[in-house]
Amino acid sequence: MQSLIHQAYDPEAFRQFGYELVGLLAEHLKAVQQKQGEPAIPLASPEEEFAFWQEDYRNNQGGSPTELFSAVLARSVRVQHPQYMGHQISPAAPVAALASLVDGLLNNGMGVYEMGAAGTSIERLVVKIVAQKMGFGEAADGVLTSGGTLANLTALLAARSVKAPSPVWQEGHREDLALMVSEEAHYCVDRAVRIMGWGEGGILKVPADDKYRMRVELLEECLNKAQKAGKTVIAVVGSACSTSTGSFDDLEAIADFCEKHGLWFHVDGAHGGALSFSEQHRGLLAGIERADSAVMDFHKMLLTPAVATALIFRNGQHSFRTFSQKAQYLWERETDEEWHNLAKRTFECTKLMMGLKAYSLLRTYGPGLWEQYLEQVMNLGQHFAALIREAERFELAVEPQCNIVCFRYRPDGMQGEALNKFNESIRQALLEEGRFYIVKTSLRGNTYLRVTLSNPFTTEMDIRELLGAIEAIAEAYRE
Ligand SMILES: Cc1ncc(COP(=O)(O)O)c(C=O)c1O
Repeated sequence: MQSLIHQAYDPEAFRQFGYELVGLLAEHLKAVQQKQGEPAIPLASPEEEFAFWQEDYRNNQGGSPTELFSAVLARSVRVQHPQYMGHQISPAAPVAALASLVDGLLNNGMGVYEMGAAGTSIERLVVKIVAQKMGFGEAADGVLTSGGTLANLTALLAARSVKAPSPVWQEGHREDLALMVSEEAHYCVDRAVRIMGWGEGGILKVPADDKYRMRVELLEECLNKAQKAGKTVIAVVGSACSTSTGSFDDLEAIADFCEKHGLWFHVDGAHGGALSFSEQHRGLLAGIERADSAVMDFHKMLLTPAVATALIFRNGQHSFRTFSQKAQYLWERETDEEWHNLAKRTFECTKLMMGLKAYSLLRTYGPGLWEQYLEQVMNLGQHFAALIREAERFELAVEPQCNIVCFRYRPDGMQGEALNKFNESIRQALLEEGRFYIVKTSLRGNTYLRVTLSNPFTTEMDIRELLGAIEAIAEAYRE
């Protein structure tokens, strides 16, 4: 009998399991895309789900991996489903999912060049392509890292290194550092500030306008106030776009302000940065090319499995300013600016071969795939809004600028907390029903239903069905 080790690494067993798995995934994809019976979200309670897996472990030791993968498919949210309209993640294009498998088997560490020559070079290529699409010049450079949250923190650490008057990395904080960002920014900016040790006072929230965009005319006043209070403001973060409503800050105006005051300009383009690949929509990002640093997730809007995020610096040298640490076992000198030893510039030491996922799509289909996809989902945002406008008792929170739409159902005369609760109940009922997956958000104390239209196979019919399902729930509640 083969040892367990030989069984686990047997190439023929891998071939067999692999065929079975790809067959399973292809059938899943077909069924889900065509909405054949499988709902968008099969939700059990956390306790039920945990009990299921405890039971599975008790009863299925030695069971086939195909059965395991099959159970995972049956019990997971289906981002590939046209009626999945939930959180911001794109359905992974199958070729990019295969790239994840290659990454998984190779398991290159990627921290140093020797541990991932192909992955490191592909990463550089992808970074250069993104930088060029964003409109940066030849001097731009950057890295890929594990998600927008980490990329924003990494960018802000570089900002601190370049702009803080004292060398914080060596001596700790001397000044009371702070940055300015829209009140509508993703919570990870707040988290980054606190991780850096600037405390609650380190994040200066600039109010947003009625379209949830930063009120850039208030930046000057906000800066004056902070300086009077003894703060050293070093950066402004623009959102492109904000998470809740998908609103794009005026990046040109923020760039002007930062230039005038010598501040670092960072753009959180985790969601909307992808529009740099769209001729038609890149105007929403005007000014991003003047940013000192910009972030863009591939897994949100570019059909790539999570996680894969580009962090671009207009001046590529700044990408070496984030970290500076000795690691004799990895590289010879900490001060050498070697593009090819990625861990010098990323938070991660071991990391995924994330460039390969994006590159597999670029190489197979060209950037035209992303262009078509972006056009499709941006149009869906407009269709969705048009149908809401037409429908009785539905209202938009704001005209959508992209594929994120916030709206609510409003029975005659209902307002305030009752209206909030009503929309929360609608969402809960939809979740329990499982046919559609949408989320909710709170905007200035009001609860809205929220969709991100990331699936290019979502049709006008799906949207009409969703609105019909909401109406049916609402009417049942009112009876
Ligand atoms: C504007 C923005 N920034 C950052 C993030 C966090 O990105 P990630 O989930 O890749 O860490 C999000 C996620 O929704 C986002 O919308």
